[in-house]
Amino acid sequence: MTAGRSPDTGSLLDWGKKQLKKSGIEDFDFSAEALLRNILNLSRPGLLLNPERPVDQNKIDEYKDLISERAKRVPLQYLIGYVEFYNVKIKCDRRALIPRPETEVLVEIVLEKLKDFKSPKILDIGTGSGNIAIALASNMDTGSVVGVDISEDALNLARENAAENNVQKHTKFLTGDILDGKIIEDLDIFDCVVSNPPYVAESEKDILQPEVIEYEPRTALFSSGDPLRFFKVIIGIAPKILRSHGLMAFEVGLGQAETVKDLMSSTFTDLYSYRDLSGIERVIAGTFTG
Ligand SMILES: C[S@@+](CC[C@H](N)C(=O)[O-])C[C@H]1O[C@@H](n2cnc3c(N)ncnc32)[C@H](O)[C@@H]1O
Repeated sequence: MTAGRSPDTGSLLDWGKKQLKKSGIEDFDFSAEALLRNILNLSRPGLLLNPERPVDQNKIDEYKDLISERAKRVPLQYLIGYVEFYNVKIKCDRRALIPRPETEVLVEIVLEKLKDFKSPKILDIGTGSGNIAIALASNMDTGSVVGVDISEDALNLARENAAENNVQKHTKFLTGDILDGKIIEDLDIFDCVVSNPPYVAESEKDILQPEVIEYEPRTALFSSGDPLRFFKVIIGIAPKILRSHGLMAFEVGLGQAETVKDLMSSTFTDLYSYRDLSGIERVIAGTFTG
């Protein structure tokens, strides 16, 4: 910021935008504004309509630190510390993947398909921050969700999120590797299995944004070897974890929808795919016939 100028919200915001633009941050406008709003706890009009509002020195220092982190490509959501997902607030940090807006489609489809189930028991495989499990539990009158993840760090975050959203009584989080099969012995039979598993191929790592590849957990992103491995394993164990006529719903990556539908076609009926807001086939759901 220019020396001698009074530290008001307008000049601080301009400074933040310039720093981020200089560092090549694409969404420099949005990031600079979101970080300042978060620190000052202001709505958008509250920030923009009163640019001469004075700012305390400790808030200026805090803002400068956050701008410097964002300039190093730390994801905005990790700096703000939470995201709005479906209609719940999810705390997020480097322990787990940042919940994505396209995953809300998965929650929407599952809630719609389970509306006639009485007290459904749901399994969320690769629960991460617990976003799917918590959004489901918060939007059902009855029922329960078990979240499984290989990452103990992610599960701790999921438990914190369940407590923040008052759904501890309807959620349970278990450590386990879904690929090695041992966790299956500790699981019940569910009415619904939902999963947004790792589905990015290692070969795609060069096209990911630095925010993703440098800061989000690799175990959440990549399926080593075969990008469809998790779908194949989960479909294969369906008879052990899903009751007959139960619902299976997956989030899939770009171009994976048809193959995942094919993989499900011999043991599932009513197979449909659903598009996200970008028009990409993002969710596959079907009814188990086993
Ligand atoms: C794409 S992230 C999804 C996170 C969250 N459900 C969401 O939708 O944002 C995949 C999750 O699967 C977990 N995971 C990776 N390998 C696993 C395994 N072998 N068994 C269980 N969970 C695994 C990761 O730790 C990560 O939390």
